[in-house]
Amino acid sequence: MTTKNSWRAPSNIALIKYWGKKTQGNQLPLNPSLSFTLKNCYTESTAELLDLNKTESEVMAYLDGARVKSFDAKALKLKRYFEKDFPGLIDKAIVLQTKNTFPHSSGIASSASGMAALSLCLLNFFKTETDADFFHLASYYARLGSGSAGRSLFPHLAAWGLSELKGTTDEKAIAFNDYHEIFKDYQDSILIVSKDEKSVSSTAGHKLMENHPYADARVQNANKNFHELLSVLKNGDLEQFNKIVESEALELHSLMMTSTPSFILLAPETLAIVMAVRQFRKESKIPLCFTIDAGPNVHLLYPKKYLSAVHEFINAQKKNYLSVIHDEVGMGPQKI
Ligand code: DP6
Repeated sequence: MTTKNSWRAPSNIALIKYWGKKTQGNQLPLNPSLSFTLKNCYTESTAELLDLNKTESEVMAYLDGARVKSFDAKALKLKRYFEKDFPGLIDKAIVLQTKNTFPHSSGIASSASGMAALSLCLLNFFKTETDADFFHLASYYARLGSGSAGRSLFPHLAAWGLSELKGTTDEKAIAFNDYHEIFKDYQDSILIVSKDEKSVSSTAGHKLMENHPYADARVQNANKNFHELLSVLKNGDLEQFNKIVESEALELHSLMMTSTPSFILLAPETLAIVMAVRQFRKESKIPLCFTIDAGPNVHLLYPKKYLSAVHEFINAQKKNYLSVIHDEVGMGPQKI
């Protein structure tokens, strides 16, 4: 068995949002979700196994070379899941070196790419990447670490939890390959509106779906949107694509606002950008749309052929954001 593995895993942006967990089972989503895999936003991790009695703690995490004790608990939780299936890990300590291409303070969650990279490193101690089920198994463990991480194991597009798609269950995602070529090089320009720590974590937000008055409606809508998106992804109808993707983002935030307690993660600048996107689309006929995760930052999605016009639009919005990260749909994880 090797004692050191390094993997790069990408971040992802959900088009159909995962929001809420089933009360039965562990980390199972209330509804199916689907995401673009990103290319430039990723985590690189190296996990090294040492004898447990030779280290000061069971997991020692480092970010950019500096010890970050606050990462230990999440990594330890994942180690426990692995130990159930791979007892060889029980008497080992893990030294985890990790770095992200996007700044920690950018408001982009690193849990998806981070948990995916760590799962790949740990699984790779016991299985090789050429094993038929390697990435699906990695998705299973990554999902236990953080739900959205389960989708960060595949190129281009990943689907999680829509049982009629062969291979995915609530427990693991799959690569979704049945899409129009327009989506092959889709762009995602991320406008960073705030670098502040979120007032409510996604994990806490998911929990508030348990007694949410609109929970049933949400599950129905997510399934309906997912099914509609499946045809749209095939036929490349961008008008419908934009309608579904924007409605998913706004529904996610509506659910937050109508939770008890209620919370609002959108900033005034987020809404200013949203309004400007709609105006720009109407005037230019360029199929630019937005999506928003659990925070104020806005992801602008568009086909590559409109890059220069959209970049001009982004420049004109400067007063509404702090910085921008230009990303696009990417290839999925890599061993490094
Ligand atoms: C809004 O995966 O961060 O980004 O499973 O509790 O770790 P945990 O939550 P997390 O939730 C992400 C929610 C979302 C939507 C999405 O990515 O689908």
